Amino acid sequence: MKADHRGMHGIWASRWTFILAAVGSAVGLGNIWKFPYITGEYGGGAFVLVYLICVLAVGIPVMMAEILLGRKARMSPVHTMERLTTQYKAPKLFAGIGWMGAVSGFFILSFYSVIAGWILYYVYKMATGFFTGAEGALAEATFGGLLANPLRLTVLHTLFMLLVGVVIARGIHRGLENTLRLLMPVLFVMLLVLLGYSLTTPGFEQGWDFLFRFEPEKLTTEAVIVALGHSFFTLSLGMGAIMAYGAYMPAGQPLGQTVLIVGFVDTLVALVAGLVIFPIVFTHGLEPGAGPGLMFQTLPVALGALPGGVVIGTVFFVLVLIAAWSSAISIAEPAVAWAVEKGFSRARATVFVCSLAWALGLGTVFSFNDWSQNQAFVTVTELNEAGDAVGSEFYLYAAVDDLKKAKEVTGGTYEIKGKTLFDIFDFLTTNILLPLGGVLIALFTGWFMSRSSVEDEARLASQHLFAVWRFMIRFVSPAAILLVLYNGLF
Ligand code: PHE
Repeated sequence: MKADHRGMHGIWASRWTFILAAVGSAVGLGNIWKFPYITGEYGGGAFVLVYLICVLAVGIPVMMAEILLGRKARMSPVHTMERLTTQYKAPKLFAGIGWMGAVSGFFILSFYSVIAGWILYYVYKMATGFFTGAEGALAEATFGGLLANPLRLTVLHTLFMLLVGVVIARGIHRGLENTLRLLMPVLFVMLLVLLGYSLTTPGFEQGWDFLFRFEPEKLTTEAVIVALGHSFFTLSLGMGAIMAYGAYMPAGQPLGQTVLIVGFVDTLVALVAGLVIFPIVFTHGLEPGAGPGLMFQTLPVALGALPGGVVIGTVFFVLVLIAAWSSAISIAEPAVAWAVEKGFSRARATVFVCSLAWALGLGTVFSFNDWSQNQAFVTVTELNEAGDAVGSEFYLYAAVDDLKKAKEVTGGTYEIKGKTLFDIFDFLTTNILLPLGGVLIALFTGWFMSRSSVEDEARLASQHLFAVWRFMIRFVSPAAILLVLYNGLF
């Protein structure tokens, strides 16, 4: 089979449009919301270092492979992988990369939309001046109140999903390009304004230390899996989003510089977001390990303290919303493109994909309220007076409130940790399926495609560079991912 020249979905106007779309996909809630909160949960600097290593050793090489595969076949990831697997006579297993990605995409879109709904709520709160001069306690209570209200969460989730649907249904060319060209730089400037503010807070040094001081003893196996998974999530890798965008990339354009730009911008935005959030955490005596609510409890306080905070704050949350929007569109694109290739109209394909993800999203909505006490993989650790673990029990499923009550009767100090449905969706997709997709993509490109056709498609600046990349993709990236996954799971 010969890959046709343009594919049925169209081609980006130029390499820069591709870069814009890829940056739009990469920069999102992963950078501004998730990176700070998981860094907080997994103890700071050691986690950040592992994450940076993962971006360089695994993320960047895999991103190049994904774009290359997409551009080679010019179809949705499902059909791209089916076609290339046949063309290069690789085991059928590899055709599953596209399918696995589509499944991950539905789950990721489902929780992504719920969280993006929170941003919508904060745009409103900011614009009405609610946070002007607010203390940490008010921000904490406001966020808690939002999560406790499933109806409100569902309405916000629905609104965001509609926003995604409207753009996707019209095709990604018109809406997206112009909006991103204008707004991505503005988002960046706003982050720098906030960084300027955070530099003046007394907690800046502590925040910096927290992010960059390497304390290896804080590193757990789970932290390493999460860092690896996050490098995939934040670069939009392992599920076909970048592969789908690669399918619309003009032929013959070199890939190396493109990939480096996307990786660099994405990492920079995450680090700056961390440098904005942690100093505020420490200045206001908030908890770095606050979890998913971290950003929602810190930024409003900072923005409420700035002169002109109502305007800056509103603009900032609108920009985060747009960043989330452009990412969510790319999460949906592989499944929508697949349905279009199957003969559905773009509009119908959109309705199908968005409704399914919307319904799955209700699982995340209830994870924060009505179902929050139903948890899986629950470990109960008994602590002695010094806070050291002296014993532990494990439950596949437990109602944690009941467990807490039972433990109160027996006395002693316990730490109870489990996973809600949202935690499971997130962990399974981000930390397992995306890296698994990454291994398969790396192995396929490195071992099953012919060297010459890969070299031809990649067009790296020198043969030397190509050799380095090919070595990474054949050995380093797959070995690193498999090692981390194996250690983490068994
Ligand atoms: N990279 C996006 C972010 O950081 C999320 C995303 C994941 C987008 C997977 C596409 C695919 O917010």
